Amino acid sequence: MGTRHYLFAIPTFIKILHPMRLFVILLATLCLSACQPKKEIAIKWKEAVASHFDAALRPFYHGVASGDPLPDRVIIWTRVTPEDSLASIDVKWELAEDASFSSVYKSDSITTSPARDYSVKIDVDGLKPGQVYFYRFTALGRASIVGRTKTTPVDAQDSLKFAVVSCANWEWGYFNPYDKIADRPVLDAVLHLGDYIYEYGKGRYGDTTIGRINIPPYEIVSLKDYRTRHSLYRLDKGLRRIHQQHPFISIWDDHEVANNSTVTGAQNHQPEEGDYQARKAAARQTYYEWMPIRESSELYRSYSFGPLADVIMLDERLAGRDPEITDINNPDLKKEDRTMLGATQLAWFEDQLKSSKATWKLIGNQVIFSDMYLEAVYPKMPRNLDSWDGFPVEKKKIIDFIAQNKIKDIIITAGDTHASWAIEAAVDVKNAYKPFAVEFGTTSVSSGNGNERKPDDTVKLAEQALIKQNPHVKYVNDRDHGYLLLTLYPTKTKAEWFYVESLRTPETKEYLAKKYEVEKGSTKLK
Ligand SMILES: [Fe+2]
Repeated sequence: MGTRHYLFAIPTFIKILHPMRLFVILLATLCLSACQPKKEIAIKWKEAVASHFDAALRPFYHGVASGDPLPDRVIIWTRVTPEDSLASIDVKWELAEDASFSSVYKSDSITTSPARDYSVKIDVDGLKPGQVYFYRFTALGRASIVGRTKTTPVDAQDSLKFAVVSCANWEWGYFNPYDKIADRPVLDAVLHLGDYIYEYGKGRYGDTTIGRINIPPYEIVSLKDYRTRHSLYRLDKGLRRIHQQHPFISIWDDHEVANNSTVTGAQNHQPEEGDYQARKAAARQTYYEWMPIRESSELYRSYSFGPLADVIMLDERLAGRDPEITDINNPDLKKEDRTMLGATQLAWFEDQLKSSKATWKLIGNQVIFSDMYLEAVYPKMPRNLDSWDGFPVEKKKIIDFIAQNKIKDIIITAGDTHASWAIEAAVDVKNAYKPFAVEFGTTSVSSGNGNERKPDDTVKLAEQALIKQNPHVKYVNDRDHGYLLLTLYPTKTKAEWFYVESLRTPETKEYLAKKYEVEKGSTKLK
């Protein structure tokens, strides 16, 4: 959804900042206040970002990443940061079956340049299915850290394991949930459901009291702005480590462009910020440069993980979404052709669901799909019209399609809300209780949420009120930050919510907060 805002921050202070880093941030901040709105003058955001560099990683400060695994291919990624601008840089890459690279399986060279922000992306082919690989890069006389990745299986598996994440906001704190996922044995994939970055300026949506300040400190609009923001985020240790250790399958939500973005506009795009299509193109270009994703004209796509699961990733923002409607009484909400996916993606999605022969159909969905009544908790927002509740006709079409084709064992995942959810996916529950799937929502990695830092009693009361109004909701947590871990077996799927104790320091502990299971053939959560 759009971002929610809370006023609660009491400055603690900034003990953990390196003095030099603090100096650069303060300098940049002072300069900003003196220079606004002529922000392009005299502000060297490149240097501000560089204050977060770990010198030991030179020139691969942003680490390595992999993603979009297939049985025989995987994308590997890095970014080179030269001391001075260079017209081109030759980068050697190597991939092996062991971390010591005793026998290199594949290697080659590629050239990068400022035209792609010195990012490096290779679609390595000729690989074996279901295999763990290690990879590294060499440039400017130095080697990168070693990445670990895995191709998708083609044979029957005893289990598959996916971490599901969304909504990481730099200013809200250290990306500790990412760091904890990085510590796990290799996953089949990390499903990133979007809000990988946020577009806001300093303090607009965040808590800067630990000194995590956006760079640039104004709202990002241009290609240079988006590149700078991605560069900053990728210097978080947790984000660097999770990319190093696991393949990603990523989709954008709205904040990769601007709050509540659609095909034609965004809530957080104003005319004085320039042409929306140009902004969207800049955001999209940067996303493709910085993410380990395969180049394509559309981001919605699917993956087979053998007989056990198909993963279907939906693009609910930029592929076909109609403009937002904020008034629940607006009759256009119920227009027959109102769409979130667009006709082409909807037809593709239905075809994917119908043709899948896998045991589980795992949907990478951004916004909550099930009906959700919010009056008891958010009186001013009885329904969240930024979610599928704002597209009731298209939602019903999909549910009717599932019923008509007797499609079972659908697991919908959801991000966006900054809350955890376990839902027997259903609509119109006031008239009939007919779940058609299960829906699991992952909380935010760090973005602030509805009960941020509230005491246990307050949290429990709000959650009980929400569950009372929504009998299909079995679990909600609107306070803690972490991730969802899904383990798919031939006979059941297990969902576990892990939270971290703190985002305010880079070192913390995680704990298992909740677990639900659903058996194959059932939509009942237990
Ligand atoms: Fe978010």
